[in-house]
Amino acid sequence: MLKVSNSKWQRIIDQCYQNGQGHIFRFWSELSENEKRLFIEQLSRINWKQMNHLIELALKPEKKIKLRLEPADVITLNQRKKSDEKAISLGEKALRAGKVGVCLVAGGQGSRLGFEGPKGCFPVTPVKNKSLFQLHAEKIRATAQKYSTTFPWYIMTSRSNHQTTIDFFEKHDYWGLDKKDVFFFMQEMIPAVDFDGKFLLETKYHLFESPNGHGGALKALWESGAVEDMKKRGIEYIFYFQVDNVLVQMCDPAFIGYHIMENARMSNKAVRKIRPEDRVGVFCKIDGKTGVVEYSDLDEESMYARTEKGELKFWAGSIAIHIIDVAFIEDENKNGFKLPFHIAQKSIPYLDERGNLVKPREKNGYKFETFIFDALLDADKVCTIEVDRSKEFSAVKNRDGFESPQTAREDLMKNYARWLREAGIEVPMNKDDLPVFPIEISPLFALNADDLKSKISLIPEITKPLYLE
Ligand code: UTP
Repeated sequence: MLKVSNSKWQRIIDQCYQNGQGHIFRFWSELSENEKRLFIEQLSRINWKQMNHLIELALKPEKKIKLRLEPADVITLNQRKKSDEKAISLGEKALRAGKVGVCLVAGGQGSRLGFEGPKGCFPVTPVKNKSLFQLHAEKIRATAQKYSTTFPWYIMTSRSNHQTTIDFFEKHDYWGLDKKDVFFFMQEMIPAVDFDGKFLLETKYHLFESPNGHGGALKALWESGAVEDMKKRGIEYIFYFQVDNVLVQMCDPAFIGYHIMENARMSNKAVRKIRPEDRVGVFCKIDGKTGVVEYSDLDEESMYARTEKGELKFWAGSIAIHIIDVAFIEDENKNGFKLPFHIAQKSIPYLDERGNLVKPREKNGYKFETFIFDALLDADKVCTIEVDRSKEFSAVKNRDGFESPQTAREDLMKNYARWLREAGIEVPMNKDDLPVFPIEISPLFALNADDLKSKISLIPEITKPLYLE
């Protein structure tokens, strides 16, 4: 057992041994004083009670209890025809009154995309190659201008990408947003373990940790003082979205309006699943309460179940866009809520016995994550509206193929082409239903088809790549 002269350090080291993790000190004698201090600092943050519980769950998973599932209540596109007008007017009123803030979760590791750096810095637009962050920033600026307001923007990062994210915003001068309206906050990290429940070393003085999932946002918003800031500014509703969705309709007034109309504490956007196997979480009533069941957790019977009309019974897929009441975030934290951890097998880089970094291709351990949608189960009132996937969701998840930068660019261009056509402008298309010339419309020029119609005189004939700003 490792002995050191600093008694505070010794207590932390002893804890690691007592919890069966003494192997992590095998390179201790090679470390500088500063490296030792950094290592101890990381180890002092471990919540052992929680950690041991999670390791136990990962190694001896509890038998899955079959959940009583029913389809969730969703306001369908068809039903929306009757009530959208009222919802939009309510939503616009809340926007103009400055009651809406924006929360972006960008703390993930983006491992499937394999891009060095935060995913938000990834260049994605079809003509100008703007980054995801710039695209979102411009949407926020344009929406704020439209409603003569400002939106405070709360951006969740994690320890591994916090500074790089801020540096990127600084470098680009926040794309014209006022710096005092952009608030970065960090989520917690949690160590990963191998299949024997042992911590893995990332370097000789650092455990491999991963961010605690997008569910970490609810606690981090509270602990960072963001909720306090929202209250000071009179923000009542948070528009929540994920960094990789290029089609997100920022602060959609209809969505905000339905949330208000339904008196909901947390609201959701749902898209219609096409195939039973579509890899999206589905909105269900879980033992009577609205929640989301991850696609990997949905039992086969429910996945393939059909209604009498032959439609999928569990059709409402989540696209991870929510409105959350600020008061709900506050209540959750005051009541000491705990979102459940989901355990996933992943391939995790680690130092071998000789101190060489190994990047396994195969899965070699467990990561622990919480999901924001589990908070739905705590909300006494939830509202879910159906939206059109092709207009609102296209995510950059993988390096290529399905949900990749290429599909995101194509989906952006298909939408821009549709707006132009709706405004009466001819767009030359190829046989794959894509514009012959790359097209990009800055959110500062138009946020949707209606905006574009009012600027028709500014649009040239499309005989070469087109960028409108
Ligand atoms: P994903 O679950 O798609 O994860 O996150 P990811 O990190 O982007 O990519 P992979 O799985 O490693 O390839 C969906 C959204 O949730 C955020 C991500 O930044 C993304 O916006 N997220 C995820 C967090 O903010 N924190 C987390 O701990 C996990």
